[in-house]
Amino acid sequence: MTRPDIPLAGVIGNPISQSRSPVMHRHWLRRYDLRGDYVPLHVASQDLKDVVRTLPRMGFVGANVTIPHKTEVLKFVDHVSDRATLIGAANTLIFREDGKIHADNTDGYGFMANLRHGAPGWDPKDGPAVILGAGGAARAIIVALADAGVPQILLANRTRAKSEALKAEFGQRIVVVDWVQAGTVLGDAALLINTTSLGMTGQPELRVSLDHLRPSTIVTDIVYNPLQTDLLQRAADRGCETVDGLGMLLYQGVPGFERWFGRRPEVDEALRAAVLA
Ligand code: ATR
Repeated sequence: MTRPDIPLAGVIGNPISQSRSPVMHRHWLRRYDLRGDYVPLHVASQDLKDVVRTLPRMGFVGANVTIPHKTEVLKFVDHVSDRATLIGAANTLIFREDGKIHADNTDGYGFMANLRHGAPGWDPKDGPAVILGAGGAARAIIVALADAGVPQILLANRTRAKSEALKAEFGQRIVVVDWVQAGTVLGDAALLINTTSLGMTGQPELRVSLDHLRPSTIVTDIVYNPLQTDLLQRAADRGCETVDGLGMLLYQGVPGFERWFGRRPEVDEALRAAVLA
């Protein structure tokens, strides 16, 4: 397969109108004066296989994949990276020139790059991380933190069975904590991460007590709407360094853009402003 005149990429999801990925990738394409485009692709589950197999023949060089297709899509590709296999989900597809489709997961990279830029003083060896939530985002973050060498992960989720399942899968590093007890372990945390949807506009607030939280704990949220969540505000009021969730979205797009369009893009204030507009 030859490289198309106008390389295309897009984001496959359902619904898709809320996705900020088109704004982000188009911002980069314009900024670096690159030929190409990036489009939202509204795809129902029953069409996922056909769409994924057809896009490479229509000038697409790759795609992002979002809810609800991130796990299902693994069935329809030719090669899955070790990371995506471990996480059990892909968010980035690369349509190779040999016709093969490669699936990767850059969510953990996005999380880690955001954390390292937002809190450059953080060291994985500083101590345990407390993760609230045990869904798809938590899986990617657990893999990334374990890779980085975080010694212990305290995991609290409303549905305890899901935390237990992650412990069974990812091993001794994980300690399961009861959801209602989450506040009581915060005194041990070097890092606190909300991976639930609580605190997002339209969702209930995250009610966890921060009474035990130390000012040295770094607090981050994957919610970025609003940017300053109630959790981040309360943590900042206690003197903690906080990192908002927008950067995770922005950085997870970097490896895909580089592969598809041949230039490593920057995450900066102009991009943040464009995506928030
Ligand atoms: P994602 O891929 O973004 O992680 P997900 O897999 O649907 O999305 O996971 C959502 C997370 O938010 C889960 O940990 C979920 O808890 P449950 O496993 O108990 O469902 C958590 N969550 C969502 N709404 C919640 C609520 N009202 N209270 C507590 N946790 C909630």
